[in-house]
Amino acid sequence: MNFQLTEEHLAVRQAAREFAQTELLPGVIERDEHQIFPAEQIKKMGELGFMGMMVSPEYGGSGMDTISYVLAMEEISKVDASASVCMSVNNSLVCWGLETFGTEEQKRKYLPRLAKGEIIGAFCLSEPEAGSDATSQRTTAIDMGDYYLLNGTKNWITNGNSASVYIVIAQTYPEKRHKGINALIVERDTPGFVVGKKENKLGIRGSDTHSLMFTDVKVPKANRIGEDGFGFTFAMETLNGGRIGIAAQALGIASGAYELALKYSKERKAFGQEIHKHQAIAFKLADMATQIEAARLLCLKAAYLKDEHADYAHASAMAKLFASQVAMDVTTEAVQIHGGYGYVKEFHVERLMRDAKITQIYEGTSEIQKIVISRGLLK
Ligand code: CAA
Repeated sequence: MNFQLTEEHLAVRQAAREFAQTELLPGVIERDEHQIFPAEQIKKMGELGFMGMMVSPEYGGSGMDTISYVLAMEEISKVDASASVCMSVNNSLVCWGLETFGTEEQKRKYLPRLAKGEIIGAFCLSEPEAGSDATSQRTTAIDMGDYYLLNGTKNWITNGNSASVYIVIAQTYPEKRHKGINALIVERDTPGFVVGKKENKLGIRGSDTHSLMFTDVKVPKANRIGEDGFGFTFAMETLNGGRIGIAAQALGIASGAYELALKYSKERKAFGQEIHKHQAIAFKLADMATQIEAARLLCLKAAYLKDEHADYAHASAMAKLFASQVAMDVTTEAVQIHGGYGYVKEFHVERLMRDAKITQIYEGTSEIQKIVISRGLLK
């Protein structure tokens, strides 16, 4: 077993770290406060190869492994989880899904621009009445011969207003339940497609989360991903990888908060000495560092299994379950270490604490991860 990162991995991590510190840190508080999508920053992330990290160079991507993706996600998420969720959805749910299951024509048409961040993708599964229970899709895709007629509403869609390409999951044969679902590529300007309300969120406020409405939208058959009825499997397989990205996001939020708390504890004095010299604070820092290290190992293990083409659904759910709990615990302690300063915006940790919560909700709640893990155990 080798715990050593390669030179290439270290270089990717360093590049992501530098980018986050120089390009994302300035303005992150303002973007959070005013719910501003980091459009310019995402463009630059695309130019640096962070938006299509695992896409093969043949389709315009960086051709990197999932471990590199985890390392970059951690660094970006330390500073700006709104930028990193956009990155994660584009990489894992859109690019990976398209490259793995799309037709050659679909890959050539969409991947190069998505991978370079020239356009952004969105993954549309959740509905007002189908969140965790993803088989209960109400959006319909009726087979009209050459095209599908798409009708319905999607909720909580990350990149909802900034995307140009949407992968929409919809029911074609309701009687077949999950085997009657399709995944369709819908382009932004298709008639009948409307971007709805923007959500005013607790955290990741710079990311644009919208509802989407589809009214008699005609989607060519050529835009279906996989065989007829493959849509649910497509969504599940894609989410297995997506959960590694969100686990890495949670890890980054935790490690970002920890680094700030560590720094603060060396600067702040109380009762005549720096606060890290008090055991009350030192023990908190020890617990935080230990939790983060364990979360990192779970993320890297899931990434490794994926890169090895082994079964990783179980490992990615474990990584997400654990890392998102660590994100909540560590950010809460980081605020505590900062005392009153932790409760105000200038010190970043209050934002990281707000951002942490979503990692226990999207791409499957913690309870969903436990379903995936327990079913894996009982297989
Ligand atoms: N990987 C591969 N296949 C899976 C799978 C997985 N993790 N989980 C289920 N499946 C397959 C099953 O094998 C089964 O296939 P067969 O019939 O061929 O055997 C099929 O899917 C149905 O499985 P179940 O009977 O277990 O289905 P279920 O209805 O009991 O529940 C679930 C399955 C795991 C709970 C699923 O509904 C689920 O994952 N729900 C959560 C959905 C989710 O994560 N939503 C997040 C939205 S996307 C998002 O948040 C993106 C963003 O913007 C950031």
